[in-house]
Amino acid sequence: MAQTEPVIRLQNVYKTFNSHPVLCGVSLDIAPHETTVIIGPSGCGKSVLLRHIVGLLKPDKGKVYFRHYEVSALPERKLTKVRSRIGFLFQGGALFDSMTVGQNVCFPLDEHAIGTRAERIAKCRTVLSLVGLDGLQDQFPEELSGGQKKRVALARAIAMSPEAILYDEPTTGLDPIRADLINELIIKLQHALGTTAIVVTHDMASARKVGDRIVMLNEGHFIVDTTPEGLDDIDNETVMRFIDGQASEAELAELQTEQFTTTGTEPGL
Ligand SMILES: Nc1ncnc2c1ncn2[C@@H]1O[C@H](COP(=O)(O)OP(=O)(O)O)[C@@H](O)[C@H]1O
Ligand SMILES: [Mg+2]
Repeated sequence: MAQTEPVIRLQNVYKTFNSHPVLCGVSLDIAPHETTVIIGPSGCGKSVLLRHIVGLLKPDKGKVYFRHYEVSALPERKLTKVRSRIGFLFQGGALFDSMTVGQNVCFPLDEHAIGTRAERIAKCRTVLSLVGLDGLQDQFPEELSGGQKKRVALARAIAMSPEAILYDEPTTGLDPIRADLINELIIKLQHALGTTAIVVTHDMASARKVGDRIVMLNEGHFIVDTTPEGLDDIDNETVMRFIDGQASEAELAELQTEQFTTTGTEPGL
């Protein structure tokens, strides 16, 4: 089989915050045109990992590459160039409230002075059409639903025609129908643009639907690397409980302890 160069590569990455180890020697190669889903419990370091890919965080040890750039060693000036090739859908969407939809979507194009004003407006229209929101250019974020905001953020993330898109919990906070619309969009964009994608989620329906490959991060390490179909064959208790959404005996015991410690101060349910 022909070797393909990974688009993104993490090599033995370590990251500790205030003596709390989050990433403990994590390695991951992301193949072109694939959608890799990262699952894992809250606080396990999924967002931290994504931030390393765009150089918003630097590893304590190890290396991070985008194409041939060693992101973890690049000065800020060169990082800007790399970031312009990666679309990042931040957790929460994060639109600028004081800007219209059109201004939000055009923002990266304006920042990087891409094309003429007319070309930027045309591009804005194209990407808003892709997410089904052409015509809303003059609205403000507060006038939109949660799902629409995510789609505008997605349009902004693809405005620069990125080679890779990083989605941080794109369906969190949406009802199942709106969440599924986002799943469909992720798939559609991958087909239409051929981009490489990483989707961080703890929504297993979304993971199975959009992923070509599924990896699970737990306590600083990847403990699963499989396909959506492969998930059903996994024989590891931590992974199975995560997939089925079942708390362990130890986690339930923690809940008991919390109830006992708060009964003195809190009114009953
Ligand atoms: N900039 C930061 N400074 C200190 N601690 C951080 C920082 N960013 C993340 N953390 C901590 O790292 C851990 C992983 O966070 P995060 O990657 O956001 O988790 P999640 O998997 O839910 O996305 C958490 O304990 C979080 O508090
Ligand atoms: Mg997160």
